[in-house]
Parts: sequence; structure tokens; C-alpha cells
Amino acid sequence: MPMPARPPVRTIIAASLLAGDFARLKEEVRAIEEARADWLHLDVMDGHFVPNISFGAGVVRAIRAHCRLPFDVHLMIEPVDPYLASFAEAGADHISVHAEAGPHLHRSLQTIRGLGCKAGVAINPATPPVAVAPVLDLVDIVLVMTVDPGFGGQTFLSPAIGKIATVREMIEASGRDIALVADGGITCEIAGAVRAAGATALIAGTAIFGAPDYAAAVAALRGAGAEAGE
Ligand code: DX5
Ligand code: ZN
Repeated sequence: MPMPARPPVRTIIAASLLAGDFARLKEEVRAIEEARADWLHLDVMDGHFVPNISFGAGVVRAIRAHCRLPFDVHLMIEPVDPYLASFAEAGADHISVHAEAGPHLHRSLQTIRGLGCKAGVAINPATPPVAVAPVLDLVDIVLVMTVDPGFGGQTFLSPAIGKIATVREMIEASGRDIALVADGGITCEIAGAVRAAGATALIAGTAIFGAPDYAAAVAALRGAGAEAGE
């Protein structure tokens, strides 16, 4: 059997609470932990950077006591800098900011690290992979949007596969341990290709919260990713 190009990495499954029942957040986050998701993904939207408003740091703080999973906060807000400390204090473990949101990406990422969180850079589907190059030494996570951000339940944009592969090459060249995350429209059908392209973490909202059995949905996504990526 040929040697793998790099050591196998277990597929990280992050459940996006955006697709959960907002009237039952405590029960939902407990159920996701029991379902053995790896991270809880929290989509913060401001109605300005994206055409939707979701929730803010108060909700993150309120659910923190009910879930032990790492909180993976995805800020789709502009500006981001005035709000970073409030999300860290609310219990975020990871904070990802969009390269497009600006105005000063290095400063935002340094601030996140200074707050004791893992730092992530996110890029929209229309943003080329090279946008993350200047900050690869400052990030723990690169989040590639595989739909235009703003809403759950959208269809995966297939050009993202090539983009994930390009970012994977950039990460390998950096020699750094960086999670490569795909976010949006992830289903069991697409998970294998996304993982094979080099993503190490899959974010899924509808595919988990829209399923009757969360644990089965998490396991199915992890298995679909494993077939290609491990
Ligand atoms: C979209 C969000 C995604 C979204 C994923 O702006 O960043 O995290 O919740 O939801 P699904 O899996 O339904 O596409
Ligand atoms: Zn997200």
C-alpha cells in the first residue's frame, strides 16, 4: 500500500447552531455534545457584512454553561475589532474573522490570540486563496466558505473544491499545524470530496440539525469524510 502523503487526521465535525431550534438552545447544545460532534460552530451575523442577523455574545455566554465542546465562533460582522473581547469573555475557544471584513486583518488576528483564543481567517467564495497567504503565520484555522455567507441550507458551490486544495498546498508549504475548515452546504454526498481536497474540518448545520438523529448524522458525516481523507 502506498504511504499517505501526510499522516491521517481524524475528520473534525463542527455542528452549526444556526440550523438549531433557537427556542431550545440549551437542549440543542447538550444534544450536540451527546451526539459526539467535535466543535460547536456559532455563526454571528450583523445584517451588514451579511444580509442576515443571528445572535451575539450574550447568546454565546448563555449556552456556555451547557456545553463542553470547543466553541468555534465565526464572525460575519464588520467591523470585528470592537467585539472580539466580548466573544472571548463569553466563552469562545476559536474566533474566525473574514479577510474581507477588515480593516486590519493582522491586528484582528493578533488581538484574538492575545485574548487566549485560537485565531481563524475566513474567506468568501469569491475571494481567492492568496488572500490568506499574508496571515498564515498568525492563524490556527483557515475557514473556506463553500456558500456565500448569511444563511444555512444553501447549496455547496463546487469551485470551492479546487480552492480548498490550493489552501491545503499553502498550509503544507507553511509547515504549520492549521485546521482547514469547509463551511456551507456540507452533506454526506459532498463530504468525501471536500476531505479529499484537504479539508480537515467540516461544518454542517442542516445536515445535522435537520436530521432526526444527530448522533447518526455526525457519524455519517465523519464516515463520509474518512473514506476519502483518512
Ligand atoms: C453560513 C454559515 C454556515 C451555515 C452552514 O453563513 O457560516 O456555518 O450555518 O449551514 P448549512 O450546513 O446548513 O449550509
Ligand atoms: Zn459558519
